[in-house]
Order: sequence, then structure tokens, then C-alpha cells
Amino acid sequence: MANTILVGAQWGDEGKGKIIDVLTEDADIVVRTQGGNNAGHTVFIGTQKYVLHLVPSGILRPRKKCVIGNGVVIDPISLVEEIEGLIQAGIKVDGNLFISETAHLVFPYHRELDEQREFLKGKNKIGTTKRGIGPAYGDKAARTGLRMIDLIKPRRFEELLRFKIKENNEVLKAFGAKPLSFKNVHETYRAAGDRLKPFVTNTVVFLYEAIVNQANILFEGAQGTFLDIDHGTYPFVTSSNTTAGGACTGSGVPPNRMGRIVGVMKAYTTRVGEGPLPTENQEISDLLHGLGREFGATTGRPRRCGWFDAVATSHATMVNGIDELAVTNLDGLDTLDAIKVCVGYRDGSKRYDYIPNDLEVFSRCQPVYKEFPGWKTPTHHASKWSALPANAKNYLRAIAELTGAKLKIVSVGPARAETIFV
Ligand code: GDP
Ligand code: IMO
Ligand code: MG
Repeated sequence: MANTILVGAQWGDEGKGKIIDVLTEDADIVVRTQGGNNAGHTVFIGTQKYVLHLVPSGILRPRKKCVIGNGVVIDPISLVEEIEGLIQAGIKVDGNLFISETAHLVFPYHRELDEQREFLKGKNKIGTTKRGIGPAYGDKAARTGLRMIDLIKPRRFEELLRFKIKENNEVLKAFGAKPLSFKNVHETYRAAGDRLKPFVTNTVVFLYEAIVNQANILFEGAQGTFLDIDHGTYPFVTSSNTTAGGACTGSGVPPNRMGRIVGVMKAYTTRVGEGPLPTENQEISDLLHGLGREFGATTGRPRRCGWFDAVATSHATMVNGIDELAVTNLDGLDTLDAIKVCVGYRDGSKRYDYIPNDLEVFSRCQPVYKEFPGWKTPTHHASKWSALPANAKNYLRAIAELTGAKLKIVSVGPARAETIFV
């Protein structure tokens, strides 16, 4: 296996966790490179469900190593909880997890500011996960953030935190919010620092040496292409580079060490949070929610659902350089008579085959649909391509061709076995 970057080709929740788990079989190391605990990656092993937020999904496979790279923002309290939860569930987290010294930290004032800013925006809110992600990346860019390496140095941490709490309490007071107690934050964060210290290391050097020793590395994308801070539907985005380039900057592994890029996309479209979604459709939302599907893995919010948007996924191929595709949740469409695919956008007389940058224009865009006949047959028992109904194969070939990459994996259920290699 070549070093592989896996990205979400839509608005997040494409089923990356499941596909990472499948691909981890052939990998030695799995690396998270951006985002924080805004991510929620679901993996089923048998009937046991795991939802990973900060720890790479590769942790669920014995003998694989996992790295939380420099580009991730870490809420240490939440990470400790996640690690203890995994250990309680019988997963080994000892000697197989490596956390970057230079990953930035998320503090309670980041979460509080996230919430206050959203509240002030009112109907223009982003619909964030309220995990403090935007303010934490804001501090990183402003060069006022604290990092993992600070957390594990008690004297330095105390001094830096004292200043940050003082500064942020002024801001919180201006918002009319309750100031934070230095003592409480310091105590809880120092305890988390002690628990995490054995995992903290120079992950850039660790990955460099692994590559010299021919290790196979899988980069686990979080969020999706259109939540990217640069290439997404700004401002309705997250605060990191979720596209393929983020795997390099967020890990210190250079672009010429990357071998292939896998784009994960659902057979339809979903989005959680605010912002334009041209193919949003009530019928398909009702269908999926009625099946108990498409509720957020992190916040539990119902996801907005719509038809497959090939304008978006071909744009994703353009900005990520996607070589191979994994299409998930094909089984979600099993009962439909007819299935629509968006093949272009129309704004008045103008037609777009990419996502326009002007959000006002994008919000006005109407999808141009092509219709495909449904297969009206359950697909979740299909274990090979030839077992899929003809109409399902036609649909998959069409969306892969419109997206402009090679179809490699089709997922017909949440479990490992419900995976078809094309
Ligand atoms: P991620 O954030 O990209 O890892 O995706 P999430 O885990 O947030 O959401 C994807 C959801 O789809 C999860 O509940 C998965 O268990 C589920 N899932 C993934 N692939 C399939 C599939 O092919 N069929 C079905 N029915 N569920 C799937
Ligand atoms: P995974 O990795 C889906 C969305 C939020 C909101 C916007 C900004 O599970 O695919 P943030 O809290 O990051 O400031 O919120 O981004 N968002 C996600 N949507 N999947 C995710 O992660 C997401 N992470 C953030 O809903 O619209
Ligand atoms: Mg998710």
C-alpha cells in the first residue's frame, strides 16, 4: 500500500471512519492531521459501535500505530476521556498512540467563545459543534496558543495559562459570560497533562523514521472538502484545511511521500450545520431519518440530506487530486423508484460545473438533475460487485465518472464485511 491520504469529498460524515477501518488492515500507522473533537468517526466491529473523536480509528486494530499530528487541536480533557473509554471497551492504548508535541490545545474559554459568537450571530450562525475549534485555531494563527509541549511542562504551563485565563476572562466578561477560575482549569488540565505525557513525542521525526523504514501510512481525514477553511463554503466551514494538502502540513510528511488519495463520499449528500446545500431534499431526509440514520455522531443533530451532488464531488476531485473513490451508504437508496444526481448548477442563464466562490451566487444556484432508475432491492448482502443489482452498478459507474476518479470501494452497510472492492 502506498502512503494514502483519505479525505471526505462532501460536507463531512461521508463514512470515513468505516473506510479507514477497512483500509487500516494494510497500513502500519494511521495519522490524524487536522480538526479536533468536532469529528465523529463511527466504526462497527461486530455489533460493537465505536465513535472516535480525536484518536485515529486505526486504534481499533491490534498492532497498528496511531498518531495525532501537529495540525490537530486537542482538548486534553476530552482526549483523556476518549482514551479511558477505549481502554474500558478492551482496546489497547499503550505504546501505540503518539501525540505531537506541537499540536495546539483547546481550552474552556475557546468553547465558551465559540458558543458566545454563535449566539451573537443569531440566524447567521455557522452551526458549529461548539467544541471551541474556531477560537483554538484562531489563537494558533494569532500566535497566542498553547501547545501539548507546554501542557506537560508544569512550571511553564502554569505561567502561560495564568496569562491566558486573565486575558480571556476580560473577553468573556465583555460577552456577558461567566469568567473562568484559573485554579479549576489549571488543576484539571495538569491532571490531563500527566495522563497524556507518555504519549507526547516529536511525531514529525517518528513519521520520518517510519517512512525510512518503509512503513505504510494512512492519513485519516476529518470533516470534508466543503468544510475546508480555504476551499469550503466559507464562512460555513470549519477552521482547518480538511483537503488533501492538510495531511502534509498537519503531519510534517512532505507531498512527495504521498502515494495516493482516496475520496470518500456517500451515495447521496448530507450536511450538519448551516450553509448552502443545493440538492437538499425533504423526501430523502425523511426517508433516511425514518430509518434512524443520519444523526450526527458528535452532536446528535439530524443531518440535512439531499441527492448526490456531482458538481461538488468533481470539485473535490479537483482540489484534493482524488485518485480513488469509496462510495458509502449505497444501501440508503435501496427503496427508491428513481434517484436524482445533480450534474450542474443554474443561476438564471448562467450555468456552473464547479462551486462558485460567491456564497450569494452559490445560495441562489438551482441544481440541474439527471435521473436514474432505482434498483428497489436490498444491497447490504452483496459482497461482490457482480452481486449488485444492474441499476445500482449503473448508478455507481455514473457518479464515479461524473466525479472523475476510479471507483474502488462500495460500502453497503456499516460493518467491515459490508464492503465491496471493485
Ligand atoms: P465520518 O465522520 O466520515 O467517519 O462518518 P460518520 O461516522 O460521522 O457517519 C457515517 C455513518 O454512516 C455512520 O453511522 C456509519 O456507521 C454509517 N455508515 C458508513 N458506511 C455505511 C454504509 O455503507 N451503509 C450504512 N447503512 N451505514 C454506513
Ligand atoms: P467528521 O470528521 C460534519 C461542521 C459543523 C459546522 C461547521 C463548523 O465527523 O466528518 P466547527 O465545530 O468545526 O467549528 O463547526 O463544520 N463540522 C462537521 N460536519 N462532520 C464533521 O466531522 C464536522 N466537523 C465540523 O457542523 O457546520
Ligand atoms: Mg462524522
